[in-house]
Amino acid sequence: MNTRPPLPPSRVETPPTTTETVAHAARLLARGGLVAVPTETVYGLAGDARNPTAIARIFAAKGRPASNPLISHVADLDAARALAHVPPLAERLAAAFWPGPLTLVLPRRADSPVCDLACAGLNTIALRVPAHPLMRQLLAATRFPLAAPSANPSGAVSPTQADHVAGGLGAALDLILDGGPSAVGLESTVVAVAGERATLLRAGGLARSEIEAVTGPLARAGEENASPRSPGQLSRHYAPRAALRLGATTARPGEARLAFGDGLAVGDGPSINLSPTGDLIEAAARLFAALHQLDAMGVTHIAVAPIPDTGLGEAINDRLARAARGRTPAQPDKGSAP
Ligand code: TXA
Ligand code: MG
Repeated sequence: MNTRPPLPPSRVETPPTTTETVAHAARLLARGGLVAVPTETVYGLAGDARNPTAIARIFAAKGRPASNPLISHVADLDAARALAHVPPLAERLAAAFWPGPLTLVLPRRADSPVCDLACAGLNTIALRVPAHPLMRQLLAATRFPLAAPSANPSGAVSPTQADHVAGGLGAALDLILDGGPSAVGLESTVVAVAGERATLLRAGGLARSEIEAVTGPLARAGEENASPRSPGQLSRHYAPRAALRLGATTARPGEARLAFGDGLAVGDGPSINLSPTGDLIEAAARLFAALHQLDAMGVTHIAVAPIPDTGLGEAINDRLARAARGRTPAQPDKGSAP
């Protein structure tokens, strides 16, 4: 792990980030530096995807197993074509959703400049064209692909604000670009495309129904004939320090509340409502910030209201289930929260 001193506050750039700041970030990256970048999904920890030393620093900073490959971010579909073979079905997905919260796992080109370490030695590569204007400026300035996992210690909640990044990984970074709160708030949806078959590897910020309008029914990872599961889909992930109790209809004594719509809207103790109107897009955008906030308040137990499994609810429930796994309070149902 990195032992450098904490990031001085002056190195956290706040809006408006100037063209000069972006050029500075691009120079740092070209020299093998690490820059935290805003994207519309979550903040990323970016390095030059071609540079194995930079990529090794990313794995070390996050404490991430090197068997878990990174997403390479590129400026457009043409840049993606230099790194991967893009079958017609992937072209259609890219045309429909790039730039945006969709990552495509595609066969890697033999002459791709992305280093093996970034791809964990696989013969596929994960590619995304992000939509955040600051990230787009940065990609235009670097003209090389940026490998960027979410900018959090491995297993922790992904950052949706610059201060989350500074709190979790600040010491390991050369610069944090502050692009404001992430608009989508959930990581990208990851889809593997092999020939005419598309497989959902990770639910995320683009709803399944939108993708299926282009692809027809998506295969699920683990199904027969589906591509291998995404190495990053560890069962416990996105975890705050507190224990989560999902699908709660009432809060127990000592529990903080993560409310949604009218669910868990009433009670004592700290409470955050992901969307008082029951809007799943708003709830997605607020989810990780709410978990960061409840952690910062020092709560130890959180009751979570039921969230419908439609639209972005699929990804919200996926993240909540992973965050809750292995963290359930010792005594089941009838005891009060310790
Ligand atoms: O929204 C996002 O996707 C954010 C922003 C920064 O772009 N990034 C992100 O990266 O969430 P990360 O590393 O936390 O998640 C990438 C996921 C992991 O589950 C990883 O296993 C999977 O993509 N992945 C990467 N390359 C893959 C490959 N070749 N085959 C299968 N899965 C792959
Ligand atoms: Mg991540």
